[in-house]
Amino acid sequence: MRLVLVGPPGAGKGTQAEFIADHFAIPKISTGDIFRGNVSGGSDLGKLAKKYMDAGDLVPDEVTVAMVRERLAEDDAKVGFLLDGFPRTIGQAHELDAILNEFDAALDIVLDLEVDNDEVVRRLSGRRLCKRCGHVWHVEFDPPKVPGICDKCGGELYHRDDDYPDTVRHRLDVYVRQTRPLIEFYNGREQLVGMDAHGPVEDVTERAIALLAPFAG
Ligand code: AP5
Ligand code: MG
Repeated sequence: MRLVLVGPPGAGKGTQAEFIADHFAIPKISTGDIFRGNVSGGSDLGKLAKKYMDAGDLVPDEVTVAMVRERLAEDDAKVGFLLDGFPRTIGQAHELDAILNEFDAALDIVLDLEVDNDEVVRRLSGRRLCKRCGHVWHVEFDPPKVPGICDKCGGELYHRDDDYPDTVRHRLDVYVRQTRPLIEFYNGREQLVGMDAHGPVEDVTERAIALLAPFAG
């Protein structure tokens, strides 16, 4: 299955991506995670991306597209993939078509996780990430057993630099202007499935898997 997850910041894309990718045995490719890995590794790509990420702006398309092209060319993506956070501009959507064309492949489905702004703010203000394995926790909705420590790998948890209120507001604005037009774009191509992503994590996972099952090859 070749799947794209879209939705506003904090919709639960990263959280659901882990479970959905596991269920369908496809690699999860998250552009935000790849950028954050580069930032913490201190690479040139990380230095460039950090300026945009800290401001809540999108990293320029040419940089992001080149990174995704390289990742999709890896062997594990031949059986399918789940893209989390890409594409997020119409330009990136066209570039994704071109990349898939090169591989004689096409997208199967785009899943839109719909949540309201109040829920986005609640989810992002309490989010914590594991420094080691990247797993996403929430201090209230999905807390680890020991505060500040990842249950999965024992790594230390941190608060993302772009999860403070002013930057979250800006990211929502960027989402509305640059990313939401994708909903219309994929809807027009009959490739979009929308779902209400409110409610407990396990319920959202169950509904997402049920919606996606018909598209699994
Ligand atoms: P990215 O990392 O993709 O951030 P985002 O799109 O803003 O989305 P988030 O990761 O904030 O939210 P999410 O939907 O994954 O929610 P999560 O599952 O964590 O991008 C970051 C930056 O990188 C961008 O701003 C940009 O600069 C750059 N970038 C990335 N991709 C790019 C691209 N294609 N082009 C250009 N630039 C790009 O959940 C949030 C919280 O809620 C968690 O704490 C979680 O535990 C909790 N939660 C999840 N589900 C539930 C639930 N059902 N109930 C209660 N709590 C829940
Ligand atoms: Mg995410």
